[in-house]
Amino acid sequence: MNELAKELNSTLKGCAVYDLLSEKGKRMYFPKGIVAQSNEAGEKAKKYNATIGAATTNGEPFCLSDIYDQFKDGALKKSEVFSYAPGGGDKELRALWHDMILEKNPLLKGKNISETLVTAGLTHGISMIANLFVGDGDEVVLPNLYWDNYELIFRDLCGAELREFDFFKDGDFNVDGMKEALLSVKGDKARIILNFPNNPTGYTPSREMMQRIVKALKEVAESGKKILVICDDAYFGLFFESETEKCSLFQYLVDLDENIVAVKGDAATKEEMVWGFRIGFITYGGKGLGKEELGALVQKTLGAIRCTVSNCDRPGQSLIKKAFKSGKNHKRDKEILFDEMKRRYNRVKKALESHRESRVLTPYPFNSGYFMAFDTNGRDAEELRRIMLDRHQIGLINILGNTIRLAYCSVEESNIEDLINTLYSTAEEIWG
Ligand SMILES: Cc1ncc(COP(=O)(O)O)c(C=O)c1O
Repeated sequence: MNELAKELNSTLKGCAVYDLLSEKGKRMYFPKGIVAQSNEAGEKAKKYNATIGAATTNGEPFCLSDIYDQFKDGALKKSEVFSYAPGGGDKELRALWHDMILEKNPLLKGKNISETLVTAGLTHGISMIANLFVGDGDEVVLPNLYWDNYELIFRDLCGAELREFDFFKDGDFNVDGMKEALLSVKGDKARIILNFPNNPTGYTPSREMMQRIVKALKEVAESGKKILVICDDAYFGLFFESETEKCSLFQYLVDLDENIVAVKGDAATKEEMVWGFRIGFITYGGKGLGKEELGALVQKTLGAIRCTVSNCDRPGQSLIKKAFKSGKNHKRDKEILFDEMKRRYNRVKKALESHRESRVLTPYPFNSGYFMAFDTNGRDAEELRRIMLDRHQIGLINILGNTIRLAYCSVEESNIEDLINTLYSTAEEIWG
């Protein structure tokens, strides 16, 4: 094992992180190679900096003018478009996002959390966390309705077994099922991923339910299990009901118990409407993690970035940073999106009212995000999806054969009622 990895591991020994690391995670470190030496030279090599593998002239990168000309005059410097971003992301952008996390989650203020690192979208962030913390044969707990990429990442890439529990019980989050699933994981370690607002259901816990989830996690930790809790906050902020929790689960976990290691994965992708930019973020926290341990974890994550994408997209980071720092319409445009999503959400709720008696499709609880989903009550969701597509040219998603997901975020408000009526009448026709 590399000496630097050994050093990081010795910093982490004695806290839950070390026990939760996978074998790959234990081997991971950020090398003192080209990138580290370039960073050092960037500060000190005032005469000639011959470290970076990027062609420059007069301190600016060479570039294709056909690309640069597409940026408005003076909008971005060549270096803000064409040069490499640092491995952990543009420093200023990282700090800005970190501050925004604190603003949106006020209980985090003054608590021990790591710096925030930039990832190449949230998928990349989750994939790195999986590689660092999940190995062959480990179990990953998750509710039985989840983003399908978790299967590919945790099960197929990292060799884990998925331990699912029923998402809902008595019309709300199945907190007992979650606790049982965690307690039944073999050994003294457990890993769980929770995603609110959820894809595919559009569910976020109420404030009260969030506290029940936190209490259950604390009880599992107190039983002696070390738990990695991955908070997938991809759709953060789109909360449409007053009783819904408006903060991340992460903020309640960072000082909850020495046995809990929390990771917040979030992204500009949906929060800032830049789906194609590929900018995500990772932040760590945990009661047993001081400055040194968090620093070691950041170093391991920098290593994971280095050996996957090396560094993340520069133009996207520059553009979004500019919008945060000096965008005149940033707040307004986000409000426009929120208001439109809320209108569509309300329209979905209303359209569902007239189908309350239906026995073929049962909507799962939803109150947030981009989606809602129907339980097909044991009938083949793929059959319904196919017929909706072939007969009505309406595209929906079949999840695991027993759930139909409807992304109302991408349907105009005026078409929602027709879409839902068509879905019900088609389901009645084939199964009623
Ligand atoms: C629940 C969930 N997590 C993570 C992601 C990944 O986001 P990104 O596009 O930033 O990789 C998605 C994207 O659809 C998602 O639905």
